[in-house]
Amino acid sequence: PRRVRVHHLREAKEHGRRLTMLTAYDLPTARIFDDAGVDMLLVGDSMADNMLGHENTLPVTLEEMIPAARAVARGARRALVVADLPFGTYEASPEQAHASAVRMMKEAGVHAVKIEGGRRITDQVRLLTQSGIPVVGHLGFTPQSENVLGGKRIQGRGDAAEQLKSDALALQEAGAIAVVLEMVPAPVARDVTEILHVPTIGIGAGADCDGQVLVWLDMAGMGEWSPRFAKQFGQVGAALSQAAKDYVAEVTGGTFPGPEHTYTS
Ligand code: KIV
Ligand code: NA
Repeated sequence: PRRVRVHHLREAKEHGRRLTMLTAYDLPTARIFDDAGVDMLLVGDSMADNMLGHENTLPVTLEEMIPAARAVARGARRALVVADLPFGTYEASPEQAHASAVRMMKEAGVHAVKIEGGRRITDQVRLLTQSGIPVVGHLGFTPQSENVLGGKRIQGRGDAAEQLKSDALALQEAGAIAVVLEMVPAPVARDVTEILHVPTIGIGAGADCDGQVLVWLDMAGMGEWSPRFAKQFGQVGAALSQAAKDYVAEVTGGTFPGPEHTYTS
């Protein structure tokens, strides 16, 4: 399959073909989602809460995310692989962002990075882009700032809508290849989508974005809890639980391994 590249994202928007993105944090899920035709795989810092058991996304480190991103990059033959730069690895300066993003590109082999924020990080977006590192933006509810935002809250309501549009335009002007919109009222996300020529990728941002992204555990029925904006397209958690129960029952009951699983000489 031909690799999804940056210009394909723009073409998809121009032709009204909706883009798909899912998170992935390891090789088996990356392979499955890539084979399923998902356009972009996001090694999200949502790995912190979804995979590592943290309360939120803040604790995960570049050292923890790089091996995960490497596995995803190895598993993806077609998808464009994007990795989040975790909290504390890019905000302070363009130089800090550059050092972190270069590690992600070189050591993990991803194709792009994602960073949170608007006008406050456009210098970072510009330097990374000029350095050959495609950047995906992330506006609306930005989980790394949840302590400033006052929790998981819808963003861009009322007067804040204009700020959101300015941030989106600033990211595009700085070179962002796409912008994730998280927990934004649908009419605001639609307006942002209309004014940008790069694609918007929504999560809790309505149906009028150019693409959608979900955390795979929420999408597949694997998570313990899912936000309202997520839909469970499968019951993977229940299927895995049943498989484990059957395994326990067959081993303790003496029916596994059978003759067909056994070397007799
Ligand atoms: O880390 C993540 O999973 C994300 C998506 C929810 C956009 O940033
Ligand atoms: Na993230």
